[in-house]
Amino acid sequence: MTNPVIRPRRLRTSGALRSLASEIRVHPAELVLPMFVREGADARPITSMPGVMQHSIDSARRAVVEAAEAGIGGIMLFGVPEVRDAIGTGATDPKGILNVATRALVDEIGDALVVQTDLCLDEFTDHGHCGVLAADGHVDNDATLERYRDMALAQATAGSALLGLSGMMDGQVAAVRETLDVNGFEDTAVLAYSAKYASAFYGPFREAVASTLVGDRRTYQLDPANRREGVREAQLDIDEGADIVMVKPAGGYLDVLAAVAAMSNIPVWAYQVSGEYAMIEAAAAQGWIDRRRAVEESVLSIRRAGADAVLTYWAVELATWLKEERA
Ligand code: PBG
Repeated sequence: MTNPVIRPRRLRTSGALRSLASEIRVHPAELVLPMFVREGADARPITSMPGVMQHSIDSARRAVVEAAEAGIGGIMLFGVPEVRDAIGTGATDPKGILNVATRALVDEIGDALVVQTDLCLDEFTDHGHCGVLAADGHVDNDATLERYRDMALAQATAGSALLGLSGMMDGQVAAVRETLDVNGFEDTAVLAYSAKYASAFYGPFREAVASTLVGDRRTYQLDPANRREGVREAQLDIDEGADIVMVKPAGGYLDVLAAVAAMSNIPVWAYQVSGEYAMIEAAAAQGWIDRRRAVEESVLSIRRAGADAVLTYWAVELATWLKEERA
């Protein structure tokens, strides 16, 4: 028996050495907070997402100031309208909740952080799908693109700096890019939810936006079995002119994230979704895991797999912890 010559443990002997040997760090600037703003209502909690609110415009204003003070990079806005219809009229109405909230928050915060908007119809349609329906009930891809073009104009006009295309229609990036460009919004950026999977982990989000969906989104969102197809979707979005591509959910799809990060020549983001949040919160509430360590490790793992930035409901709290640790 000879003693080992190679001893990886050497670099783990002290906190100082471990810190110096650390490959990845999470920084507040690369965190984005998703936020829900509800029309005509006081702020109210979301039961399945403890600590997350459906905001009123006023409480959203306070939250965005707090977010900027914490040093995070941006917010991603979702609107919860009072009235819905077949084509999602509220999404393109300048007086629709998402567009009103966008204007209010841009006005409140300037460019202290990046105000971004979800570009998808599901919060605004009475059937809850991400697009408009054809006569036979299927989601009509090309008719939906026309709605997305109008939605992009409404959001860019309201002051959104980055449009998050989460509807998973074919050709959505090219369509939105073209409409933005011919209307003088060349500088409005596009975040493509490229590899967005038909996931059970969006469960709590459906409560957050009071979703009316019956059925599922499997004819447009990706099959969780498919990694190669996720990479293909990212490549198509890069070719169509996306500024950033995204993988969603994050935790269960780190292999897809790593594959997209390996091929992409533009930033790659990941969305740690509502179910990922709810699972850690629920287990921590039982005392079964250490909440802070689990939150930090979950986001670190997403960064390690290749995400340049992470959308997470813990963005502000995590940024606050990170500041403490550096101080
Ligand atoms: C669709 C959209 C969804 C989420 C973000 N954008 C839901 C869905 O596709 O069903 C989920 C986010 C989350 O679960 O945190 N506009």
